[in-house]
Amino acid sequence: MRYFKDTTVLNNQMICTDVYLLEFAFPEISNSVEPGQFINIYFPGKTQLFPRPFSIAGVDGEKIKILYKKVGCLTEIMSQWQSGQNIRVLGALGNQFDIRNQQSVLIAGGIGLAPLLFLNARLEKLNYPIINFIGALSGNQLPLFNSMSGKTIIATDDGSQGYCGNVVDCFRQKLDSISRPFSVYACGPDAMLSALWRLAREHKFDLQLSLEKIMACGLGICQGCAIPHAKPADHPLRLVCQDGPVFNANELELS
Ligand SMILES: Cc1cc2nc3c(=O)[nH]c(=O)nc-3n(C[C@H](O)[C@H](O)[C@H](O)COP(=O)(O)OP(=O)(O)OC[C@H]3O[C@@H](n4cnc5c(N)ncnc54)[C@H](O)[C@@H]3O)c2cc1C
Ligand code: FES
Repeated sequence: MRYFKDTTVLNNQMICTDVYLLEFAFPEISNSVEPGQFINIYFPGKTQLFPRPFSIAGVDGEKIKILYKKVGCLTEIMSQWQSGQNIRVLGALGNQFDIRNQQSVLIAGGIGLAPLLFLNARLEKLNYPIINFIGALSGNQLPLFNSMSGKTIIATDDGSQGYCGNVVDCFRQKLDSISRPFSVYACGPDAMLSALWRLAREHKFDLQLSLEKIMACGLGICQGCAIPHAKPADHPLRLVCQDGPVFNANELELS
């Protein structure tokens, strides 16, 4: 069920360089929202017509948590919000991770950590073994990973913390030591997801990817978030906002 809601910011704080944790009350969805889903934040009165999509990073009672990175004009505005600021949100949108009953491997790149924090909390409740691979450019850009359950392996591009290199290379090095069967759930930049997609084909593991494609309407109207399906004869273009954002790797053709 989707709800348009005018609500107020309860908390909005910078937790590491340019990354913020936003909390607001949304009781209509907080009990039913699933890991992988997202919300649209609207900016009435601003020149931009379109909302901005953000993954749900966690739920605490009636509160929804969003972990966001300041990258452009509207996230810049969000970063200035104080407690009590009125905001307009729409959610919950999109599909969810299909949680398998087996060991889970979570792979996050940068702000792609957001939906995996929520997934990690859900997996903890289900008592499945979890391994987290968390990638970032640098050790000072690793928000909230300490709160995650399971074993956590860090990779930083500059080598300032954990494995020196990208998170997919880090995972590849450990792949043979992870007992099968396992399912991989991932979110991050396009290049990271493509590398994982190729690895899953080569090593035949179950993989779900949450795509953070640039969206306009976020509601299945503009077709701006269309992606090709792996079997175009069976399926026409898929919409990330409606059919996703989570896709099984077999459905995608990422090259
Ligand atoms: C389903 C979904 C979930 C998302 N979840 C999160 C989240 O939890 N936390 C978070 O910080 N961001 C998330 N994003 C990305 C977020 O929506 C964009 O960062 C945001 O819309 C940028 O708005 P802006 O006005 O500040 O930037 P703009 O001024 O519109 O753009 C600034 C720069 O950011 C790039 N950009 C814009 N949108 C995206 C995008 N979707 N993906 C990658 N780059 C983008 C632009 O190309 C440009 O270079 C998500 C996107 C999707 C589609
Ligand atoms: S963003 Fe408009 S159809 Fe998906």
